Amino acid sequence: MKKMVITGGKELSGRIKINGAKNSIVALLPAAILSDDESTIYNIPDITDVEVLTKILILLNCQITKTSDYIKIDNKKIENIAIPEDLSNRLRASYYFMGSLLTKFKHVEIYYPGGCNFGARQIDYHLKAFEALGAKIRTENNKFIIEAEELIGTKINLDFPSVGATINVMLASVKAKGKTIINNAACEPEILNIATFLNSMGAKIKGAGTKTIEIIGVKKLSNGLVGVIPDRIEAGTYIIAGALVGKNLEICNIIPQHLTSLLTILDKLGVKYILDKDKIIVNKSVNLNPINLKTEVYPGFPTDLAQPISVLLSKANGISSITETIYNKRMGHVKYLNEMGANIKVEDNKEIIKGPIDFHGTLVEASDLRAGATLFLAALLAKEQTTIINVEFILRGYEKIVKKLSEVGANISVVEIK
Ligand code: EPU
Repeated sequence: MKKMVITGGKELSGRIKINGAKNSIVALLPAAILSDDESTIYNIPDITDVEVLTKILILLNCQITKTSDYIKIDNKKIENIAIPEDLSNRLRASYYFMGSLLTKFKHVEIYYPGGCNFGARQIDYHLKAFEALGAKIRTENNKFIIEAEELIGTKINLDFPSVGATINVMLASVKAKGKTIINNAACEPEILNIATFLNSMGAKIKGAGTKTIEIIGVKKLSNGLVGVIPDRIEAGTYIIAGALVGKNLEICNIIPQHLTSLLTILDKLGVKYILDKDKIIVNKSVNLNPINLKTEVYPGFPTDLAQPISVLLSKANGISSITETIYNKRMGHVKYLNEMGANIKVEDNKEIIKGPIDFHGTLVEASDLRAGATLFLAALLAKEQTTIINVEFILRGYEKIVKKLSEVGANISVVEIK
């Protein structure tokens, strides 16, 4: 068990380089087993989710070569081995092995995925889509057994543009017989990143990044090669840090188009920044306007930044609100942010945030990944020391956070709890 200790009140100045996107790499690694030969993925983020997925690949007898720059996954000796619960429940994205192992071996044995708890996070769209493609599913003591004699392309109409289901359908249909169409597909940039990787192996996927994706099944998939896109949520988190305590804080290796909805909100708030081709310079901004925002699927405001931006809204002059529309329960940060001085009330799925307030340091607990990010942002403002426990959540998504924030002037450490 580890804890993060931050003494805030310091200006952050210098450059933070954004790593590869967590929500891309966690799908690219399971997708990599689809190559009949080997695959190489560049710009790998150094986060704990990657460690867990690599363990699963090793369990499947993939040969892994990892450097600081890339990972090579050689599938020549891959075997179909049931993925045990203590690995599948470490993260949500273990469910991508359902789609990729189904294509590879027509038989998958895996337990329910884990991940942050925001209320019921069902996987019914995934399972329905596998069935539509010809799979039969049964459960045995919490274990899913998914098998298919043959996968046959079909039309899949998603009830909601789920990121995970869209990717899983691509993984399960890439070698299916004939054509698969996904209607109401998720449009998040990570979807295109996965499709680009599969197409580099010889898959025939068109329309990724739009609401309709067409997949023509192929017989073989050769060597794959892809670079992970920059993490728009990590970027967004540090941009918010810049608006709180930045002095010409530069966030580089970003794709500005992926951040449009955040930048629109920052404009409304009155945050000062200079945007360049692949970087942004952000300054501490005062006299912020209160605003009302709502989370939406891409290209709308991302749910993954709703918790972090509540720190910035707590500094605005008046009452702001955030309506969470993607998850039932993603308010784990509110209790602790209020203990740090925020004035936030929750009404159903809406945060009502009264500002401006000053944050003070105390002992708080990360209830999930982005709740943890929210707390470290508030801690950067508090002059006293803040201790965040359950810091393992934060390490799932923020690469080298101590190094990155220390290098721009923060007083931060992560230490083992004895
Ligand atoms: N949903 C269902 N049934 C399904 C699938 C989804 O009801 O079969 C519901 C979910 O319960 C949720 C909504 O649909 O209410 C959206 O879920 P989605 O499937 O889009 O989310 P996900 O694939 O499970 C990914 C990211 C999340 C991010 C969401 C939305 C990964 C591993 N996770 O989750 O990332 O919040 O998309 O953009 O890619 C994070 O990074 O902090 C994080 C939680």
